[in-house]
Amino acid sequence: MEKTIDENKQGESLVLEQKVGNHRKLFIESYGCAMNFSDSEIVASILSEEGYNTTQRLEDADLVLVNTCSIRDKAEQTVRKRLEKYNAVKRINPKMKVGVLGCMAERLKTKFLEEEKIVDLVVGPDAYKDLPNLLAEVDEGRDAINVILSKEETYGDIAPVRLNTNGVTAFVSITRGCDNMCTFCVVPFTRGRERSRDPQSIIEEINDLWQKGYKEITLLGQNVDSYLWYGGGLKKDFDKASDLQKATAVNFANLLELCAKAQPKMRIRFSTSNPQDLTLDVIETMAKYHNICKHIHLPVQSGSDRILKAMNRLHTREEYFELIDNIRRILPECAISQDMISGFPTETEQDHQDTLSLMDYVKYNFGYMFTYSERPGTLAERKLEDDIPEAVKKRRLAEIVQRQREHSEIRTKEYLNTTVEVLIERQSKKSSEQWSGRTSQNIVAVFPKAHYKVGDLVTVHITDCTSATLIGEATGYSNYN
Ligand code: SAH
Ligand code: F3S
Repeated sequence: MEKTIDENKQGESLVLEQKVGNHRKLFIESYGCAMNFSDSEIVASILSEEGYNTTQRLEDADLVLVNTCSIRDKAEQTVRKRLEKYNAVKRINPKMKVGVLGCMAERLKTKFLEEEKIVDLVVGPDAYKDLPNLLAEVDEGRDAINVILSKEETYGDIAPVRLNTNGVTAFVSITRGCDNMCTFCVVPFTRGRERSRDPQSIIEEINDLWQKGYKEITLLGQNVDSYLWYGGGLKKDFDKASDLQKATAVNFANLLELCAKAQPKMRIRFSTSNPQDLTLDVIETMAKYHNICKHIHLPVQSGSDRILKAMNRLHTREEYFELIDNIRRILPECAISQDMISGFPTETEQDHQDTLSLMDYVKYNFGYMFTYSERPGTLAERKLEDDIPEAVKKRRLAEIVQRQREHSEIRTKEYLNTTVEVLIERQSKKSSEQWSGRTSQNIVAVFPKAHYKVGDLVTVHITDCTSATLIGEATGYSNYN
């Protein structure tokens, strides 16, 4: 089941919580990672206080916001194309204002205003609370920009307006930024240094979601396992914290446990785990609580020690294997997924073979796989030549994808003739007679609807499968419902 991240993925705003009395219309869409989708919900909440309700029709919008991704060149090209579309609409609706949010805003800053005439507003990921002031400037006919990165901002005090929701699953952001400096990655530059959100506000958000009928949350961060709350501030400044702050600090294992206990029937997922920060405590906490889902997204990027070092990934192949062995020992039923990059500078055929053999060892359940895309300003761009021809990158990627397909098939077949627990999320895309949901391991399962409904946690006997999907029949409500 190879899942390549869909860079065209687009979250048009479906409106749940419209504020009465609001008269302006906001069209907001998101590209890239889950964090961007979550941030757009924060932006919608801030603007709801400013008189904006969301609309799904671009043509109706007073304000169009696009939350952008810079992770690969292709993601940026997709956004540029979207701006062309807005341009066409603006010809019909000249009063429409256009703002760019997120990583491209942070990376390009004023260049955006210079290069794209359509853009009135540029706002980086830490500056969304300044939107009311910036919009006031735009209303007065000036372009507006704020791309200041913050040491404290976590938006912990903002209750997101849920967009595009199925009413069952929701994202809850717990950390912002990243301190890891992987040499290929633009995120530390666009999202700033790492900081964690107050656990109290996280628990309150989860409690509120449960009240509203949500059944599963995903704790989000670039590197969730590095979560550390000691009263606010950057992770890197933890050394300077007081003894009391240090003694009462909350790490990711603690936070997971707090969440699992706060709502014992709420399913808890998290993403993404960086191998160097995933501790045994986290794995053991996962084992202790049924409601913490048994899936770890554990990107490795490469199976070659030399390339891992050049990427500044702070672990070796051997250490990664040790981690995998520990997960298998403590959590035998846990699914593991990967991110992989083919064609990082200097990658040899032998390095590529090392990646394939690492995959053979782990046999991931699924993964997200990419060719290397050089990003301006990263260490790799400054120090290393992008020397692997595109055709070679693509051929290696195809081999990685093929290997993943084989492993996914093996993994999916392991569930044949077993009974799994599935949270029903929506109608199956293929049949209106079937429900679709996910197992604790994050594997999609489809089955006849019978008398069940969206939001039910059911047991499903698996009778068939494709490489990505389990097919079966519900046998009853789960005891954990
Ligand atoms: N820790 C983050 C990683 C964000 S980027 C998280 O929350 O997922 C997601 C994935 O994109 C990375 O794991 C990596 O596989 C891929 N990626 C990042 N930069 C890339 C680049 N320059 N070229 C190709 N793929 C890249
Ligand atoms: Fe990027 Fe590495 Fe952080 S991939 S988001 S710098 S963990």
